[in-house]
Amino acid sequence: MKVTVVGAGAVGATCADNIARAALAQELVLLDIKEGLAEGKAQDMMQTAALLGFDTRITGSTNDYSKTAGSSVVVITSGIPRKPGMTREDLIGTNAGIVKGVAENILKYSPDAIIIVISNPMDTMTYLALQSTGLPKHRIIGMGGTLDSARFKYQLSQHLGCSPADLNAVVVGGHGDTTMIPLIRHATWNSAPVTNFLTVEQQNQIVADTMVGGATLTKLIGTSAWYAPGAAGAALVESILRDEKKLFTCCVSLDGEYGQSDICLGVPVVIGKDGWEKILDFQLNDEEQAAFNKSADAVRNMNEVLKTL
Ligand code: 2OP
Repeated sequence: MKVTVVGAGAVGATCADNIARAALAQELVLLDIKEGLAEGKAQDMMQTAALLGFDTRITGSTNDYSKTAGSSVVVITSGIPRKPGMTREDLIGTNAGIVKGVAENILKYSPDAIIIVISNPMDTMTYLALQSTGLPKHRIIGMGGTLDSARFKYQLSQHLGCSPADLNAVVVGGHGDTTMIPLIRHATWNSAPVTNFLTVEQQNQIVADTMVGGATLTKLIGTSAWYAPGAAGAALVESILRDEKKLFTCCVSLDGEYGQSDICLGVPVVIGKDGWEKILDFQLNDEEQAAFNKSADAVRNMNEVLKTL
């Protein structure tokens, strides 16, 4: 199997590193527009192979898409990251052109690839990738909710004093500070509702901290985070290549599910060899559905901006 990661910045390189360490692919190509960056990071990662014991062949390429030919999965991380004080939505002007160009170039050499979009604003970039490539909807997957759900589990684990791995918790809706919806009513610690163990104040705090999870890190680090975003991308690659059929929240094209159409938005999906294979209906209550509709309105407004670029 061959995987390409486009964008050798912090998120792309971390994603590639996770893919290599888990030995998910025989071949892994890292591609970047900046001369030498992908080649350098690929070599650096290859020099960990003897220490870590993986046998994935990682190569770098400066914008030569022919090197990516025959990839089964392509992860797009290209574009500028946000700086402190910026929202993900502020990036649309720069990143839309980049993501559209990358998606089109990728398909010239890997027409059967499943595409995972990480670039921000992720919901709109996923929609753009779908519109501009015309690929079947199951082959375009936006990563945001997978990351946000991992951050939600982290916040829950801090309050519960438990392992994040023992938690089931999902964040649906958009991948924006005000558009994501951590579904705390549905979250469980093994099978017990987490709400059994948390005060209402704690629950509200956890939800609020999850929603600004990315912004908090951007403020602390000075740029956008990369460990969890990279690991989230790699987890999706793993579920596809190993046909694991794991449940993740991903940004996918909705056709009436959750009451929305003509939009890509985060919902729980099964990820396997064909991309996203089915959407699960979590049966939102009125309050959750209203929040989902509000999130859809905000993302739809952002999608409208694409027409003006
Ligand atoms: C984040 O939330 C990169 O959007 C990503 O950190």
